[in-house]
Amino acid sequence: MRVTSIPRVPEKHPFVNAKCPKFWHGGDYNPEQWSEEIWREDMRLARLAGVNALSVGIFAWAALEPSEGSFELGWLDRVFELAKHNGIFLVLATPSGGKPAWLSEKYPEVRRVLKDGRREPHGFRHNHCYTSPVYRDKVAIINERLSERYGRDSALVLWHISNEYSGDCRCELCRAAFHAWLEQRYGSIQALNQAWWTSFWGHTLNDFSQVEFDDWSISASILDYKRFVTAQTASFMRHEIAAVRRHSPNVPVTTNLMGLFPGLDYAALVRDVDVVSWDSYPTWKNDDDDWKVASDVAMIHDQNRAFKKKPFLLMESAPGTQQWQSVPKLKRPGVQLLEAMQAVAHGSDSVQYFQWRKGRGGCEKFHGAVVDHVGHEHTRVFAEIAEIGRVLAKIEPVLGARRDPEVALIYDWENAWAIEQLSGFNNQAKNYDATCRAHYRELWQRGIAVDVIDSVAELTSYRLVIAPMLYLLRPNVAERLRAFVENGGTLVTTYLTGIVNETDLCFTGGMPGPLRALLGVWIEDIDGLYPQETVSVVPMHENDLGFSGRYEAREFCSIVHAEGAEVLARFGSDFHAGNPALTRNRVGAGAAYFVASRNDDRFLSDFQRGLGAKLSLKRAFPGDLPQGVTAQARTSGERQFVFLLNATRHEQRLVLPAGFRAQSMLDDALIGHELGLEPYGVRVLERVP
Ligand code: GLA
Ligand code: ZN
Repeated sequence: MRVTSIPRVPEKHPFVNAKCPKFWHGGDYNPEQWSEEIWREDMRLARLAGVNALSVGIFAWAALEPSEGSFELGWLDRVFELAKHNGIFLVLATPSGGKPAWLSEKYPEVRRVLKDGRREPHGFRHNHCYTSPVYRDKVAIINERLSERYGRDSALVLWHISNEYSGDCRCELCRAAFHAWLEQRYGSIQALNQAWWTSFWGHTLNDFSQVEFDDWSISASILDYKRFVTAQTASFMRHEIAAVRRHSPNVPVTTNLMGLFPGLDYAALVRDVDVVSWDSYPTWKNDDDDWKVASDVAMIHDQNRAFKKKPFLLMESAPGTQQWQSVPKLKRPGVQLLEAMQAVAHGSDSVQYFQWRKGRGGCEKFHGAVVDHVGHEHTRVFAEIAEIGRVLAKIEPVLGARRDPEVALIYDWENAWAIEQLSGFNNQAKNYDATCRAHYRELWQRGIAVDVIDSVAELTSYRLVIAPMLYLLRPNVAERLRAFVENGGTLVTTYLTGIVNETDLCFTGGMPGPLRALLGVWIEDIDGLYPQETVSVVPMHENDLGFSGRYEAREFCSIVHAEGAEVLARFGSDFHAGNPALTRNRVGAGAAYFVASRNDDRFLSDFQRGLGAKLSLKRAFPGDLPQGVTAQARTSGERQFVFLLNATRHEQRLVLPAGFRAQSMLDDALIGHELGLEPYGVRVLERVP
């Protein structure tokens, strides 16, 4: 396996590419599906919609290399010319997401082998073998061609590497690559046997060649297989990047991600790109839970920004509906702008769509697009996109602005995989992703900025770190959490924490393993509760977090022995009555909390309000925010921008606290004492000193 090291594009400015120091507005564009007459109309419409950046080439391999070794780049030359003429910048994709028929036919090894051993027929997309030397060679050839021709073009602002990498391949080449990867990781088969605990059910192996792709009875093998899939995808991606860099050393690269997609450890994958970008497709339902949808999306924005601690790109979003959702609902007035401003509020320097013009055929012909089949600009969707174009121009000072959260929420892919494999405690209610979202939501609701990071990310810049359900502890994580607390940080952990190491071996010596001294508790066991069961949680009278009344625990209930930690709440029912439910251990200059059960939302909300007040955490808006309305800030030097986002279908009113003076960036009006937000309404304010 050849691992290419990738030189990075030097950063001199906060923008993705100084060639286009504006919010990028545009999206996926497929001129190869249309006549040149339509292209000219596209340019007229793009100008009308305030579009300045289009992504081309994503699935264009068959058009660029119609038969092996014969290239037709003339049409793309003309697209570049036309774009330049119209002041539009281009994001150029490598076309590896969709392979041409001649390639699959002549070299069947490029087609992916599925779990059942069948080689996939040609067709569909995102289904190549990532190990095949033939596929890698052919991809390098087309990528290099593109790089040679357009890599220094004044219109090119970004390389879009492939499209939404996903999936795995189980061909013999991939099997050999997996074995080599394991050998490199473990050195000897004995070490693997030990790390995987293969003496269980007589799984002891004599040689790496005997390893299956995965075997659910040996959970460590599944974790390692998933790590391998990420490593192999990253290796394929680096191979692609190396080919484009050959003639294009100064143009940054990205690859578009898909939120909490479980198939790849994105935190690892993004190390090899210059700019992080992702594709956001929320399911708005026009019901009273839409604000939770908004909060879930915000969490991913905060993750994508936190990956590199700098602005990211919203690479795709739907103008109107997503045809693949079970009910492709039309977005209610305001939702499109809300979605766009939400991305910007959390650190995006773009609002891009899938796609520019609705295709006439194929399975996505009813997916929303800026330009509908009707062909003109007189549609509701077009008008909303054009409005976003105008708004983005008005808020240009926000471009490149930072967010500096004091709070980090840990979401870790390796941990998510381990919890997915976990057999024990409560198999029907594990819900790791949902638990992270629930913790995030309380911060979102209070307008507290958050970085969503993985468990091996740097912690020093934070004051509060929330690590829900950190079941698997990767190497050094316990030590780093300890250092964080000793230096004055506040750590929040929960049930199901500190149970296994990176190969899913249980820690001996009691839960939470290497965190036992830091948290000052020993967890003797964890009770799984059926859906109808609850256990009450009763805060101690004199707690300093402002808790009051009773709360309810569900699904997970730990049996905690306090070993030095103070008890802030106890369970009040069942045989759990009297046991600690919430503890705090002061270590060094900081404190580490342990929440023993999965509690109702009111507990989470009161707990975080208490912590926020105790730590005086910074909030983007110091007043009360009605449920479903958030405030998010970006700062640029002395300037502070505050986005007020109403993610509800109801009108909302905010009272501005004394001392909060701001001006609307959209109409320059000074904001009075009260402010109304229409359903799904948005305000972008600049603080006035
Ligand atoms: C993904 C893909 C696009 C398109 C959209 C449709 O994000 O990258 O090519 O299929 O989904 O929502
Ligand atoms: Zn393969």
